[in-house]
Amino acid sequence: EETHRKVSPVLLLSSLLVLLCLLRGSKETCPSTCLCISDTVSCSSSGLTKLPLSLPSFSVTLDLSHNHLSWLGSGSFNNLVKLEKLRMAHNQLSTLRHGVFHNVTGLRHLDLSSNKLYVVEQHYFQGLWRLEELLLFNNKITQVEAGTLSSLSSLKKVYFSLNQITHFPFFSIQDHSHPFLTMLDLSSNRLARLPWDNVKALPGLVQRGLYLHNNSLICDCSMYSVLWHWDLRGYESLKDFRDEHTCSINGDPRTSIRFLEHAGFFNNCTVEKSVSQPLNELLSNMLVSEGSTVFLDCQTSLSGTDFSFTWLSPSKGYITQASTSDPLISLFPNGTLEIREAKVNDSGLYVCTAVDIKQALNATREVNVTVLLPEGESFNTGYTTLLGCLVTLTFVLIYLYLTPCRCSCCKQPKPPVIPIVTYDPSTLTSVFSYSTRDQTKSQTNKHVAFMEPMISTKGTEWTPES
Ligand SMILES: *[C@@H]1O[C@H](CO)[C@@H](O)[C@H](O)[C@H]1NC(C)=O
Ligand SMILES: *[C@@H]1O[C@H](CO)[C@@H](O)[C@H](O)[C@H]1NC(C)=O
Ligand SMILES: *[C@@H]1O[C@H](CO)[C@@H](O)[C@H](O)[C@H]1NC(C)=O
Ligand SMILES: *[C@@H]1O[C@H](CO)[C@@H](O)[C@H](O)[C@H]1NC(C)=O
Ligand SMILES: *[C@@H]1O[C@H](CO)[C@@H](O)[C@H](O)[C@H]1NC(C)=O
Ligand SMILES: *[C@@H]1O[C@H](CO)[C@@H](O)[C@H](O)[C@H]1NC(C)=O
Ligand SMILES: *[C@@H]1O[C@H](CO)[C@@H](O)[C@H](O)[C@H]1NC(C)=O
Repeated sequence: EETHRKVSPVLLLSSLLVLLCLLRGSKETCPSTCLCISDTVSCSSSGLTKLPLSLPSFSVTLDLSHNHLSWLGSGSFNNLVKLEKLRMAHNQLSTLRHGVFHNVTGLRHLDLSSNKLYVVEQHYFQGLWRLEELLLFNNKITQVEAGTLSSLSSLKKVYFSLNQITHFPFFSIQDHSHPFLTMLDLSSNRLARLPWDNVKALPGLVQRGLYLHNNSLICDCSMYSVLWHWDLRGYESLKDFRDEHTCSINGDPRTSIRFLEHAGFFNNCTVEKSVSQPLNELLSNMLVSEGSTVFLDCQTSLSGTDFSFTWLSPSKGYITQASTSDPLISLFPNGTLEIREAKVNDSGLYVCTAVDIKQALNATREVNVTVLLPEGESFNTGYTTLLGCLVTLTFVLIYLYLTPCRCSCCKQPKPPVIPIVTYDPSTLTSVFSYSTRDQTKSQTNKHVAFMEPMISTKGTEWTPES
């Protein structure tokens, strides 16, 4: 009886603590159909036919996938000024009204895959200039309007596969409009004749990341020429999907040819040497820690002596010798780029183009730089607050049940060790049954197939004989 009286105020205290913890977790109320965890709000698989009335404004990640949403009003996400990730895969959306994404200018990841969209209109993503990933695969898209991607200058990856696209505005993608775009997935669509001149004019990084397999391509020399070049350079889009690169003669599906394996059809295409595209691209990886100085060399297969060098950097755009205003960056006459006091956001793909002025030849060199934080500085504060609450609670409970015991009899129980792992959003979202097509298939570590001997026997460009 004595212990009972002694315990009850402590119980009161601990329940107060629990309440306090819950209140700290959500100042605003979480919609009843959703689950709110620190800055993540998940309303997936909740049978929603419309948006919950008041979405908490602290949301950084909002998951609305696997519902029955068929309509979104303009300004639907108006008050979510912190929103960075919006997942709406597996819904019934067929169009988006003007201004749906008004005020969510911080959005970086937008997943609209597996919906019923049929035209991607120019206004859909207006104002989302920070958007990095746009997932539109598995819709019913037949048309992508020309200006749709124009203002999305931060884009890194766009997925349009598994739609019914017959024409794509390749001309709207340029170096200066999309400096960071490295993935444009147009596979499994209905592309038949592409404007190959526009495709060849795409920035080098976009060409490297352009996926065109499983379309309805029509066999001709200009198509073959472009894809043969990409194959020669070992682009993963071709390496990983060799057998799915088919074309048909005059569009007759019965005459489908796996043209990377059976090139016989293209014997009539003439070979012509071309210097309009980089000769060689080498990709290497570099891992450095924050604050260090990085040297990136621009040694290419070209042997001339009179070069001009240009670097394209992920965070600072083009760097030439004439224009190095950044005090932390130098470009040496031999093409080597020096980055002092590297920061995490300097990470990414650096591409150097060396142009041999006399011979009008150019070559590129790519270096994938990853700048790592010194250990132990990178966990999310929201998550640690939550963990802090849990640890406090555990200690209260230990205190409650272990203090009546004398110290000599209990062998000083160690406090529970809770592993604090760096916060990884992907593990968190996996709890919410978020699923996406495995887009990483193409990133498996395969060895690059060097096909140098072929360059010497054949030329580098095929054009039709006339
Ligand atoms: C957009 O967000 C700002 C706050 O950043 C707010 O003042 C404004 O009212 C919002 N716009 C609309 C149309 O709600
Ligand atoms: C090829 O595309 C069709 C639709 O165009 C799709 O049904 C099929 O699954 C795709 N095949 C592969 C291997 O991706
Ligand atoms: C290639 O040229 C030969 C002779 O000029 C011709 O008989 C053949 O049909 C051509 N092949 C194709 C695929 O055009
Ligand atoms: C390029 O020049 C810089 C400075 O002169 C030097 O540090 C660097 O090692 C050189 N790089 C190569 C590849 O020769
Ligand atoms: C990169 O991070 C630094 C601080 O670490 C910041 O001052 C700078 O503005 C950031 N740059 C970009 C482009 O985000
Ligand atoms: C390569 O050189 C040619 C001719 O000098 C030029 O037109 C072309 O834009 C260059 N390509 C790249 C990727 O710099
Ligand atoms: C660069 O390296 C990072 C980390 O090693 C990797 O996640 C990324 O996919 C690489 N990028 C390219 C284009 O290879």
